[in-house]
Amino acid sequence: MSEPTSLAGEAEKLDAADGLAALRERFVLDDVTYLDGNSLGALPAHVPARVEDVVRRQWGELRIRSWDESGWWTAPERVGDRIAPLVGAAAGQVVVGDSTSVNVFKALVAAVRMAQEDGPGRNEILVDATTFPTDGYIAESAARMTGCALRPVTPAEVPGALGERTAAVLLNHVDYRTGRLHDLPGLTAAVHAAGAYAVWDLCHSAGALPVGLDEHGVDLAVGCTYKYLNGGPGSPAYLYVRRGLQARFDSPLPGWNSHAEPFGMRSDYAPASGAVRGRVGTPDILSLLALEAALDVWDEAGVSVAAVREKSLALTDFFLRCVGAYVPDGRVESVTPAAHAERGSQVALRCDDAGEVMKRLIERGVVGDYRAPDVLRFGFTPLYVGFADVERAARVLARTLSG
Ligand SMILES: Cc1ncc(COP(=O)(O)O)c(C=O)c1O
Repeated sequence: MSEPTSLAGEAEKLDAADGLAALRERFVLDDVTYLDGNSLGALPAHVPARVEDVVRRQWGELRIRSWDESGWWTAPERVGDRIAPLVGAAAGQVVVGDSTSVNVFKALVAAVRMAQEDGPGRNEILVDATTFPTDGYIAESAARMTGCALRPVTPAEVPGALGERTAAVLLNHVDYRTGRLHDLPGLTAAVHAAGAYAVWDLCHSAGALPVGLDEHGVDLAVGCTYKYLNGGPGSPAYLYVRRGLQARFDSPLPGWNSHAEPFGMRSDYAPASGAVRGRVGTPDILSLLALEAALDVWDEAGVSVAAVREKSLALTDFFLRCVGAYVPDGRVESVTPAAHAERGSQVALRCDDAGEVMKRLIERGVVGDYRAPDVLRFGFTPLYVGFADVERAARVLARTLSG
């Protein structure tokens, strides 16, 4: 069993050698050890002033002129192009707006419509049985609307479940509860081999690890921006539509913002070309521009998804080591895979009384979260979490479980 002092000393050395350590200063943080960025990312320090400018000058002074002069109208595509490189997409394929739930609906229904256009008999949707609940609820409704059966399967079961009936498959890149990273390239290839369309939910991977949407030929993807992208509470989600599919993307929510001529006020619908087709109604400008400001953090020298991934794995490795060293045997069990290729940027520990334990951890200044029925979840945002935070969290967890 390692002594706390030796792991604390190691944390100090790791922080000193960390090329991303200086970024922490770009965020509003305090003495709390914040390991909940996989739920709500911390506030980048420059965002309040930018939001104030949007409110006071753009809205207060320019008023309606801001739709053109402040670039409000084109913000969904512009901010989409800022997110695109973070998920491995070339420009022109990501549009920002609405919630993840709404974008799951657009993507899944559009995927089924394309599959059914390809040929008859595509009448089944496969959905990740372990998914974050909203995706499952939306998939059930999408299935009913499109005349499909819905079949929940685990990601591991997907290859065996695919067939001539499969229209679309909705999967999570990283499981929200266990932190397991799924094989996006392999599963996407299997879905394509069956003639179906792959829709990926990137909520727990974008901003934490490489996604490679273009490289792996993903058809459609969605994700939120309030976790590892630090866009703020309820910041708008995004929708990726692969360029080669955009002309066939038939949105089930064809609002006026997605019209080829939105100010033509025509009664007949004609979709815009490109990612704009994924828009619906008037964008939520205040949240959208707060997100745009938050993304500036990624423009700092030395910040890349690869560097973030490297640090993320080092942080989660170190946390697992500290937990192994400090926490009494048998009190917790990691449900996050040990293999790097299967691990996202969080560690989930199964623990008796997890809800109560997390309450006490938060009282002691270590903020993670609890997921029913028995999981303590700790998220590691490499932009602002350091190794000393990791060591402290494990030490306080051990004390909490012993006391
Ligand atoms: C994997 C996943 N999908 C979807 C959602 C829900 O997104 P929204 O509330 O933006 O619709 C979440 C929220 O945490 C999530 O973790």
